[in-house]
Amino acid sequence: MTKHQSAKEAHVREKLATPTDLKPEATRDISGALSALLADVFALYLKTKNFHWHMSGRHFRDYHLLLDEHGDQLFAMTDPIAERARKIGGTTIRSIGQIARQQRIADNDAEYVDAQDMLSELRDDNQRLVTSMRQVHNVCDEYGDVATASLLEVWIDESERRVWFLYEATRNPTGAND
Ligand SMILES: [Fe+2]
Repeated sequence: MTKHQSAKEAHVREKLATPTDLKPEATRDISGALSALLADVFALYLKTKNFHWHMSGRHFRDYHLLLDEHGDQLFAMTDPIAERARKIGGTTIRSIGQIARQQRIADNDAEYVDAQDMLSELRDDNQRLVTSMRQVHNVCDEYGDVATASLLEVWIDESERRVWFLYEATRNPTGAND
């Protein structure tokens, strides 16, 4: 890092500082982990709405409504994730461009996706999100950030519920082609 860059970073830190008893390493690591998580949640939110908008087939109403509910849950996580980072003195996502650079959940720009494929993909993505949230929870535990950990516990439970519903909707024990 150049002298100019570190002076600029120090300036940003000073302007956007928030009083906290957490160590600077805690602020850095937790807000960094929250940024990546937020990018994933935005990416998964938009994919869920994409599939909600482009759903088709005989279970349209059920699936369309299910994905709307899932989208609402994901969107509701975004503001508290960003504000946790600010409360502990960190910064958060600033743009769609930053989301694209940080997201680990892949977009799906396909023109047509079969209903069952939509649900399986979302099931896997939500499962991935659970794994990432457990990792962020571990970082919080390391530094004693119980408040972020407590939010994560609720979001993990909600995400596991989404995985459960998506799993049940995609499982096909009879082998019937629906
Ligand atoms: Fe809608």
